[in-house]
Amino acid sequence: MKFLLVTDLDNTLVGDAEATLALNQRLLALGEQVCLVYATGRSFASFGELSAEFLATTGQPLLSPDYLIAGVGSEIYHQNQRDSAWAARLSANWQRQRIADLLAGLPELVLQPTPEQNPWKLSYFVKPQIPSKQSSETQLVEQLLQLLASQGLNAEVIFSSNRDLDILPSQANKGTAMAYLQNKLGIGAKATLVCGDSGNDISLFAQGTLGVIVSNAQPELLDWHRQNRFPQHYWARSAYAAGINEALDFFHLA
Ligand code: GLC
Ligand code: MG
Repeated sequence: MKFLLVTDLDNTLVGDAEATLALNQRLLALGEQVCLVYATGRSFASFGELSAEFLATTGQPLLSPDYLIAGVGSEIYHQNQRDSAWAARLSANWQRQRIADLLAGLPELVLQPTPEQNPWKLSYFVKPQIPSKQSSETQLVEQLLQLLASQGLNAEVIFSSNRDLDILPSQANKGTAMAYLQNKLGIGAKATLVCGDSGNDISLFAQGTLGVIVSNAQPELLDWHRQNRFPQHYWARSAYAAGINEALDFFHLA
């Protein structure tokens, strides 16, 4: 049976080079049986940098994915071409400049560098807050959603890894981008495995597919996992790509 493997990159597929290489061998041996999708917060260019670094360190490239979901779902690439239908879908009802103006005055937000911004993604770093970090971050997301709603602005607000805040068009995230691809490819939830470690991966886990949370996951994903307890989600004992490898056995996918 053909299955879809949708994996985050930083601290999921990438993080332990030896484990990534072992997984790559296994995936290569599967050939057409697996359709490989990378779902990352990185831009297309930044994905290229990660691939180059991986090649320089290990002497082997990252596998070329069939599809690349970049910028937390704000872009989808196939054979290095951006999917224009996805872009058109996200453009409806998205007022990036108005949102940027509204948030410009907030002292806790610092804009991320320009290469990480794109027409459908507005990204900030959140300045560290003390005390009671976890709850203040959840509150920040709530406050931002309320502020946006009060101005009639709809958007997706995603917090990850203790510092990253992404604002995307309403309904845009890694999970909806994946659902778009599943639909295009005719591959269902039971034949899809998602793999992640942090907050921007939660939307992948929310689509009813099989899922593996690598052992080194961030608290925001683990908290979500504990609160939702979906039986088809597996918290691996191993970290990074070794966790994905473990899940392929656990779910008898390969
Ligand atoms: C990646 C992106 C960054 C984003 C973060 C979390 O690090 O480069 O822009 O905020 O992922 O989604
Ligand atoms: Mg990650």
